[in-house]
Amino acid sequence: MATIQFQLNGTATVVDTDLDQPLLDVLRGRLGMTSAHFGCGAGECGACHVMVGDRAITSCDMPMWSVADKDVVTVEGLGTAERPHPLQRAFISEQAMQCGYCVSGILISAATLLKRNPFPTETEVRAALDRNLCRCGSHNRMVRAVLRAAAELAAS
Ligand code: FES
Ligand code: FES
Repeated sequence: MATIQFQLNGTATVVDTDLDQPLLDVLRGRLGMTSAHFGCGAGECGACHVMVGDRAITSCDMPMWSVADKDVVTVEGLGTAERPHPLQRAFISEQAMQCGYCVSGILISAATLLKRNPFPTETEVRAALDRNLCRCGSHNRMVRAVLRAAAELAAS
C-alpha cells in the first residue's frame, strides 16, 4: 500500500492504494467516478478513457503509481446536467449514442482533441476517435457531434 496524490477534476485527491491497482478501479470503486466504463480490461476498447494531462489514456491498465501528481479528468469534470460541456450538448443534439456504454470514453477522447486542436478536420476527429470502439455503430453521428461542438467553441 502507498499514498498517491493527484488532481481529480480539479480537486486535490489522496488515496491509499496498491501501486499497481488500475486507476479505473480506484475511480469507480473508491472515488465514485463511474463515468469511465470497464469494457475489455486490456487497453483495446477505450470505454475507460480518462484525460491525464493532455492525453486520453486507458484507465483499465493505468497503474495508480503512474498518475501520482498528475491532473486526471473524467466526464464528471467536463460538465454537469445544469452546465453541460459543448461536447455533451452536441452529442444530445446529434443523438450520437445508442446504448451509451462507449460514450464517456469517446467524450474524453474528443475533449482531449479539442484541447490540443480547437479546429480539427473531420479526418482529425476520426483519427482521434479511432481507439474508441462502439458496438452500436454510432461513430458517424459522434464525428458530426464533435465537429458541431468544435464549431460552437470556435464561435464563442
Ligand atoms: S476497458 Fe480499458 S480499454 Fe477497454
Ligand atoms: S453507443 Fe453503444 S457501444 Fe457505443
